[in-house]
Amino acid sequence: MVDRYQYVKVFAPASVANVSCGFDVMGFALDHPGDEIVARRTEEPGIQISKVTGEHGVLPTSVNENTAGVAARALLEQFDREVGIELEIHKKMPLGSGLGSSAASSVGAVVAVNHLLGLPYETDELLAFAAEGERVACGTPHLDNVAPSLFGGFVFIRSSAPQDVIELDCPKPLFATVVHPHIKIRTEDTRKILRRDIPLQKAVTQWGNVGGLVAGLLKGDYELISRSMQDVIIEPIRSVLIPGFAEVKEAALNTGALGSGISGSGPSIFALSSDKETATAVGEAMRQKFKEIGLDNEVYISPINTEGPQVLEKA
Ligand code: HSE
Repeated sequence: MVDRYQYVKVFAPASVANVSCGFDVMGFALDHPGDEIVARRTEEPGIQISKVTGEHGVLPTSVNENTAGVAARALLEQFDREVGIELEIHKKMPLGSGLGSSAASSVGAVVAVNHLLGLPYETDELLAFAAEGERVACGTPHLDNVAPSLFGGFVFIRSSAPQDVIELDCPKPLFATVVHPHIKIRTEDTRKILRRDIPLQKAVTQWGNVGGLVAGLLKGDYELISRSMQDVIIEPIRSVLIPGFAEVKEAALNTGALGSGISGSGPSIFALSSDKETATAVGEAMRQKFKEIGLDNEVYISPINTEGPQVLEKA
């Protein structure tokens, strides 16, 4: 018999989607930053959002407009509409940054609610609920942030409908550097500017790289990972929205990163490195380049998170 709780607090990690060549099909989780979500039982049936905190901007407390609220409600509607739960959302990461902020809130909410209810769902069953939050955030229920945030590690999305998600091993050590310049880009907008038709030769190059990246991760082949982290389809279009993109990426590669690209839909830029010292030096070089063009920024250095969400408190 699994315990049920009155109160559960969960941490859910940020994530880097796409990983250069894998638009909408690849992502990995970070140890930090991430969001903290509290779920508490209430008398009134349904989901309510009682509190949103965070230094990074304002989020709606209306359940319909809030990714965590929509995701938790999707779960409750399937489980039992008579149950009442209120959520607190503690944003510990920037919004609209390309770090999977909306996904972290959705994942934190469904994991917290699932614990509160005595774990009626397996982890992989929570994915569909969390994806509903993503639909509200940017118009499509893409899985390349919610899946890594929920499962930890690297994930590959073979299909999002029906959902077919594969967790990938990756070499250790493997460190991510993510630099967030202080501009906002809406995922929904950056999806609209993408071309609908792709020349065959570019598609061939791209799926060669996706296969190479997956193989490189599974084989622990840093060289293969490095030469596969090339995006010839999405990055050339989206990168024009990020001031200094080419210079920041070049600085990362010149400092020893295996590869670098746009984190999700941006504006953050990420790099992967084979050790922490390199990842730290890469972060400094990237920070400096953004500073040179007058853009304040934050740097996050993290190993690939393999744990996924964590229950921080329960009572
Ligand atoms: N795959 C999505 C995109 C991720 O690039 O639009 C958004 O974070």
